[in-house]
Amino acid sequence: MQTQFIVIEGLEGAGKSTAIKAIEFWLNQREIAYAKTREPGGTPLAEELRTLIKQVRDEVVTPEAELLIMYASRVQLIETVIKPNMAQGKWVVGDRHDLSSRAYQGGGRGISDELLDPIRHAVLKGFKPDLTLYLDIEPKVGLARASARSELDRIELEQLSFFERTRQRYLAIAAEDASIVTIDAMQTIEDVHQSIIDALNRAYP
Ligand code: TMP
Repeated sequence: MQTQFIVIEGLEGAGKSTAIKAIEFWLNQREIAYAKTREPGGTPLAEELRTLIKQVRDEVVTPEAELLIMYASRVQLIETVIKPNMAQGKWVVGDRHDLSSRAYQGGGRGISDELLDPIRHAVLKGFKPDLTLYLDIEPKVGLARASARSELDRIELEQLSFFERTRQRYLAIAAEDASIVTIDAMQTIEDVHQSIIDALNRAYP
């Protein structure tokens, strides 16, 4: 089988880290070599961009600046980490990818598709995940989990309505794209784990 790019997506507190462990468990059982990435970040330059964009700052950060930083990070990661790993025969497991920008910057921040689409297409040039697992959670449940874990960053400090819009965009895109599987992240950890294994088994019988 060709190498695959599998992405995990979801709002803060949806349980992405636990979900990634389930994917790793499944890959290890099948003895598939893989690399892990995260966005924004995943290369030295992109990790610096991650720090910059998450920092709470006095200055207003425009949605457009935020968007471009996300795509600067993404293009660096795709070209220097994801594609080279796949060329070497490894699968790649991504903690977030392009769908995050469509949901957070498009849905949450309200950036139009007129701006978003040309940037996406210029950066991605048709590159897309083979499978995306979207962990769906109510924002207030996710944010309560995230704030119990650590201090909230600049994006996490947004109002609930921002995350409601982001979630609605995730759900709308997932409903139209067969490569995105929606998983109920409000189930028990064991059930989320099993749902992920089931989704992987269905995608790769
Ligand atoms: P996390 O990966 O630890 O959840 O942090 C990443 C934060 O950045 C999270 O709040 C979602 C946000 N984000 C965007 O707004 N757009 C993007 O394209 C990506 C990759 C992340």
